[in-house]
Amino acid sequence: MRELTLTRPDDWHLHLRDGAMLTAVLPATATVFGRAIVMPNLRPPITTVAQAAAYRERILAARPPRSDFVPLMTLYLTDATAPEELRLARQSGFIHGVKLYPAGATTHSEAGVTHIDRILPALETLAEIGLPLLVHGEVTDPSVDVFDREARYIDTVLGPLLERLPGLKVVFEHITTAQAVDFVRSRAQGLAATITPQHLLYNRNALFQGGLRPHYYCLPVLKAERHRSAVLEAATSGDPRFFLGTDSAPHSRMAKESACGCAGIYSAPLALPLYAEAFEQAGHLGRLEAFAAFHGADFYGLPRNQAKITLIRENWRVPASYPTPDGELIPLRAGEVLPWQVATDAQNRPWAGDHP
Ligand code: DOR
Ligand code: ZN
Repeated sequence: MRELTLTRPDDWHLHLRDGAMLTAVLPATATVFGRAIVMPNLRPPITTVAQAAAYRERILAARPPRSDFVPLMTLYLTDATAPEELRLARQSGFIHGVKLYPAGATTHSEAGVTHIDRILPALETLAEIGLPLLVHGEVTDPSVDVFDREARYIDTVLGPLLERLPGLKVVFEHITTAQAVDFVRSRAQGLAATITPQHLLYNRNALFQGGLRPHYYCLPVLKAERHRSAVLEAATSGDPRFFLGTDSAPHSRMAKESACGCAGIYSAPLALPLYAEAFEQAGHLGRLEAFAAFHGADFYGLPRNQAKITLIRENWRVPASYPTPDGELIPLRAGEVLPWQVATDAQNRPWAGDHP
């Protein structure tokens, strides 16, 4: 197959940052994806509806000309989040989820939740009003092996939580393990998971291939091959509980290539081609559209996109870096050749169906 036309996809997990970085990274997402769930882990974090409204305006203002990209906003849950703020979020119409970062689990999570018991009233409110909880599912106990933190979170936090609040709607973000796949499949409803391109295409060997590779480092960290293959099987199975979330997370080259490099992989400019590559490898290219454009919208109760987009099976070389006023960004697969690309016209706009 040389061309693949799909319904325009959405990105159900994305970091856009703010200021100059937002302006630099937004076009890559906005030209391909119709909507994106925008993560709230700014500094300071987006903890109120008013902050989310202001951030949304900054995102809308940073869109390329004529873009109809829609940011779907989220709130950052803290120990102090008031149930009333969550009700306001539900009423806002533009906030579609509330993000739970265990304090210390990842980038900009210092203000996150210190213990699940502290936020039970907030979680009960979410269950009542039907606003999804978006979970970074890793325990932070330093005595737990970094590769076991997701599985431990299921056993000690997420499993018990869903037993207690079965009506809570949860997106288990960026799942990386066979245990997470099994857990999602074990629940009849109300639980879904996003999957990144890196967790479909790479196992943890990629972190150490010929030396230490900071641009393959994200959290949750890449796992062993058996986990990668379980996650790939889930993504390409057609099960509507699994959908696309890139977790594209830009950090400057300096912040990544450092004695203590930041977690986060920048994939936005090549994300859809990477998913196509993974689905093709699994022999299920025909299931990419539902994973990328249907399952997430259905779970969030939003209409599916109407527009189409075309992927072409034609080699292209990923740039070695993308300049920004805050330093260059090194994307995943920098300088490498990819087999799939998004078809664009002379104005760099995607086209679909008939050639322009
Ligand atoms: O690798 C990651 N980077 N994981 C996260 O959970 C956060 C993200 C970021 O914001 O950079
Ligand atoms: Zn993320």
